[in-house]
Amino acid sequence: MALSADGPGERGATVWLTGLPSAGKTTLARALAQRLRAAGRRVEVLDGDEVRAHLSRGLGFSREDRHTNVTRIGFVAQKLASHGVLVLAPVIAPYAASRAAVRQQHAAGDTGFLEVHVATPVGLCCERDVKGLYARQAAGEISGLTGVDDPYEAPADPELRIQTRHRSVAESAAELHAFLAERGLV
Ligand SMILES: Nc1ncnc2c1ncn2[C@@H]1O[C@H](COP(=O)(O)OP(=O)(O)OP(=O)(O)O)[C@@H](O)[C@H]1O
Ligand SMILES: [Mg+2]
Repeated sequence: MALSADGPGERGATVWLTGLPSAGKTTLARALAQRLRAAGRRVEVLDGDEVRAHLSRGLGFSREDRHTNVTRIGFVAQKLASHGVLVLAPVIAPYAASRAAVRQQHAAGDTGFLEVHVATPVGLCCERDVKGLYARQAAGEISGLTGVDDPYEAPADPELRIQTRHRSVAESAAELHAFLAERGLV
C-alpha cells in the first residue's frame, strides 16, 4: 500500500455518514468540509440529495434504486479518495448490504473507508423534520420514509457512532474532526 508513505492530510479516504432523514449528516459534512478546506485539505462532499439531482437523476426509492444510488456514490468516492481526496458522503444508505458493497469497492481499490453512524433517534429526527418529510408521511401524503415505513438497517459495527442530541453542530463536527485526526486523515 503506497499510501503509508503519505503524511497526515495527504491520504484519501471516504467517510460515509449514514443515518435517518434529519439526523444531521449533511449539516456535519458541510461543517467539517468547511473546517478542513480552511486548513488546506482537499475535500469533496458527495451529498445524497445532490447526487440524486445529477448522477442518479431518475432513480427512485425502491430497494434496488436505493442500492444503485449508494453504489454509484461509492464508485465515485473511491476514485476521488484514491487520489488523495477526503470524501465525505452524507447519504442515508439504509441497507447494510449496500454499505458493505461500498466498503468492498474501497477494499478492492486499497482505499480507506470509514462508516460513521449519525445516530440521532427517530423521535428527534421527526422533531427536526428539516424537509417536512416526517409530517408528510404522518399526513399520508408520502410513503416509504426511511426509518418510519421503509427500512433503516443501522450499522452494527461502524468505525464511529456519533450522537447529535444535546450537542451543538460545532461540537459534533469537532468530534468527527478529532476522529479523523486520530486516524491520521487530517
Ligand atoms: N449536533 C448536531 N449535529 C448535526 N445537526 C444538528 C445538530 N444539532 C442540531 N442539528 C440540526 O439538525 C438538522 C439536521 O439536518 P440535515 O439536513 O443535516 O439532516 P440529514 O441527515 O442530512 O437529513 P437527510 O437525510 O434528509 O438529508 C439541521 O437543522 C441541524 O442544524
Ligand atoms: Mg442530507
